[in-house]
Amino acid sequence: MRASALPVLLLLATACGERPDGATSKPVTIGFSQAGAESAWRTAETRSILDEAKARGMVVKFADAQGDPEKQQQALRSFLLQRVDAILLAPIVETGFEPVLREVRAAKIPVVLVDRGVRVADEGLYATLIAADFVAEGRAAAAWLAQRLGGNARIAELQGTTGSSPALDRARGFAEELAKYPGMKVVKSQSGDFTRARGKEVMEAFLKAEDPAQPCTAVYAHNDDMALGAIQAIEAAGRKPGQDLVVVSIDGVRGAFEAMVRGQLDATVECSPLLGPLALDAVQQILAGRPVARRHVVPLRVFAKEQAAAELPNRRY
Ligand code: AHR
Repeated sequence: MRASALPVLLLLATACGERPDGATSKPVTIGFSQAGAESAWRTAETRSILDEAKARGMVVKFADAQGDPEKQQQALRSFLLQRVDAILLAPIVETGFEPVLREVRAAKIPVVLVDRGVRVADEGLYATLIAADFVAEGRAAAAWLAQRLGGNARIAELQGTTGSSPALDRARGFAEELAKYPGMKVVKSQSGDFTRARGKEVMEAFLKAEDPAQPCTAVYAHNDDMALGAIQAIEAAGRKPGQDLVVVSIDGVRGAFEAMVRGQLDATVECSPLLGPLALDAVQQILAGRPVARRHVVPLRVFAKEQAAAELPNRRY
């Protein structure tokens, strides 16, 4: 697909943005390359960034890569041709970005990574990474599960998009923490691509192939959407999520809290998608020539279903 054919939405703000030199005649223009729209979390992240840019009088050229890494690189090249002032990149996968990021740097366009990291030999190819610590999230999910199940479980793991930093790091953190509990074992693991539909399909297949003498007693899903799909599959198989199988996931979206209130989901590790203010602060600092930290870690919290009803009215996504 040619760069010009990409789904690019131009958002024009009413007010003008402030430029690094203090002039207000021309708004700051940002290229925002979003990974896709696979989950409620990602939709909330997109909204947070677009709303915040609008409030700050910035123009955003928005490109949804729809889960296609090739398309995402084309979007970056199209931003390059359009001479945007800065780029926000939420990478689908970790690898493959080095060449295009070199082109972007040669054009002196700063890149802020939001939500996910990339693996590059030269870390100077981006200015900062604003994201959660996915390894810590995986560890927190495992520690919570071990505590809830007394250190004994046969776990089905629904992994996120293959090659993405949250899938890799949430699997690693979970496995590292689990190694402390000899009675806790991951007995099945497969990618559900961070979507509810795939989470359901993969869980259905797990349950069908299961040996009734050795059933799974827990599900660890790398995001809430897959957990919600898995819950549908568990119920369709005549089992009770939250009782026969303890389900823990990551994100903390409103749908997860509603499922916890219903008793279907047991816990979620919060990973905030409300990154707009942080990301645009970083862009403005960089354009003003001020230093930014290389890494901003978005903090996590664990919510169990016992806390869900009280917390639900506070959820912002
Ligand atoms: O990168 C963050 C992850 O991507 C979120 O946990 C998931 O819901 C999303 O699709």
